[in-house]
Amino acid sequence: MKCGLLPPSFEDTILNICQCVSPNDIRQLGINPNHWYVVALSGEVKTQPVGVMLWKQAMLPKGAAQGAIALYRDSKGQIHALEDRCPHRLVKLSHGQVIGDELECAYHGWRFNDRGECAAVPYLADNQKLPSCKIRRYPVKEQDGFIWLFPGNVETRHGASLQTDGASLQTDGASLQPMGVPEWHHLNYIATVSVINCNAHYSYLIENLMDMYHGHLHEDYQAWAEASLEDIDEDAHRIDAHYTAQSYYKIDKIWSISQLFFPALRRLHPEPLDVSYVYPHWVSTLGKDFKIYCLLCPVNETQTKAYLIHFTSLNAFWRLHKLPVWFRRFVKNSLFGAAQKLLDGLVRQDVQMIEEEQQAYLQNPQRRGYELNRALVSVQRLMRSQSHL
Ligand code: FES
Ligand SMILES: [Fe+2]
Repeated sequence: MKCGLLPPSFEDTILNICQCVSPNDIRQLGINPNHWYVVALSGEVKTQPVGVMLWKQAMLPKGAAQGAIALYRDSKGQIHALEDRCPHRLVKLSHGQVIGDELECAYHGWRFNDRGECAAVPYLADNQKLPSCKIRRYPVKEQDGFIWLFPGNVETRHGASLQTDGASLQTDGASLQPMGVPEWHHLNYIATVSVINCNAHYSYLIENLMDMYHGHLHEDYQAWAEASLEDIDEDAHRIDAHYTAQSYYKIDKIWSISQLFFPALRRLHPEPLDVSYVYPHWVSTLGKDFKIYCLLCPVNETQTKAYLIHFTSLNAFWRLHKLPVWFRRFVKNSLFGAAQKLLDGLVRQDVQMIEEEQQAYLQNPQRRGYELNRALVSVQRLMRSQSHL
């Protein structure tokens, strides 16, 4: 199928991309569970257990993630993750409570330790033994303000060992550590977080984030303009797409932070715009002043949760760096969420488009879109290869 009256070489290019981005099966892809995913903000797990969902059971290899996971903190504040299913009557453990270092089921009060073993039954008779039932525990880490979870089948992988909570588990070398967000605690960066909950497959979200030509959608928020794809680097784990773009923001004076609130203060100027799909997450830089992460928690084929974190850099203010650390921390904390309106606005617009794409796919999975951005061919190639590993 040809796309129209275009010069042959260009037409062929479009044709190839059309075929590559055919939605035929990319919207059904599972995840590669042998990576660290983000399942919650640190602050979301306090004294009560919290239930989270990370991909559905059927799409993962036998013995891998079950989907529903209970997160809780022990008496020292250490985070743990267990299958969210009491082995007694199969209700959710996340509806229970934490007693000391154990998770207690709400129904009959059975308690489980952090290895997933039944540690107490309140009505156990003298002549009865504790049930030998055991539920799955997941490697989990708290790092850079987020809770990272490894849903892979750690015991059957080969290669280096995965260190977590004192336990040594086996996995391949690709994902030993969570990607991390080094700017989270760095005094020179102001963070804003927006939570994305969209009714769409994760591939739509990643494609949205990697296709900077969609600045058109956000014109009213003045985030960036006139993107142009210059180059793509790719390997088995990541895609780096290098664009140039016009940025509206320049954070070179302390009052420039107010550009985040007042669009009238912004001026267009050219900046490099780099976006990277570091499977399974995304990270981007716009010039020297902005860095954005999107940390993914795919739920199932039509639901994706993600955390979008926007950092404004204070690196240009060398005078500020000479001030006491407590004051710099005060500035950082006071300005937390400075870009909230901007970020939430961008997310709202993106989610609407992504969900419309998902709906169109569900109505007619055979129908193809037309695509011109070759970065998306690379992105889909990486998703496919990772999901089949
Ligand atoms: S269902 Fe959990 S203790 Fe009975
Ligand atoms: Fe967007």
